[in-house]
Amino acid sequence: MEETPNINYMPRIGDKAPDFEAVTTAGQMKFSEYNKDSWVVMFSHPADFTPVCTTEMSAFAVDKKWFEERNTKLVGLSIDSIHSHLAWVNNVREKTDVYMDFPIIADLDMKVAQLYGMLHPGESTTAAVRAVFFIDPAGTIRLIMYYPLNVGRNMDEIQRALIALQTSDECKCALPINWRPGEKAIVPPPKTLEEMDERIANTEYEKIDFYLAKKSI
Ligand code: BEZ
Repeated sequence: MEETPNINYMPRIGDKAPDFEAVTTAGQMKFSEYNKDSWVVMFSHPADFTPVCTTEMSAFAVDKKWFEERNTKLVGLSIDSIHSHLAWVNNVREKTDVYMDFPIIADLDMKVAQLYGMLHPGESTTAAVRAVFFIDPAGTIRLIMYYPLNVGRNMDEIQRALIALQTSDECKCALPINWRPGEKAIVPPPKTLEEMDERIANTEYEKIDFYLAKKSI
């Protein structure tokens, strides 16, 4: 069953991604079907035909294959009509040769923007902020980024965060600050005196102290 939008609702990490049906540039979308068996990175932009948004959405288009290779689908959103989306996608293609051929949700009634807490009234009551939702194949929200209207996002960090989420799932480990593929992971800290003594004696890990140790993954 679809959930009722509420301007005050803010999704949180660990929540089930709210399901919805929407019109997109790739046709009608039922989100739970789109999300089936794959990660989804969903991002909102304030408005079509605006400069910062054009740089961001073009960057997603250029890197679409990178996301697909990591079992990740893209979906954009703004509070614009489908006609505006189509004209913008065509304009960007004509002017720059970049084809934004991932689905972009036309959310004129703000239904999806409200479901995902993309409207931050202190910033704008009519335009979505620059949100990024990382949703895993089980439909769980795993990471949320919110950027204001006047600052574009960082594609490098979006991609680093996706790889980090997928890696931490695979190795069931935590990853330290600025972690990059190829670097060591955090070994969970000991929870008993016995485990602490084992950790102190361990010579295999890179150890700062018994509670801060790293291992190759
Ligand atoms: C932009 O994408 O350039 C933009 C959109 C809304 C407010 C400010 C900047």
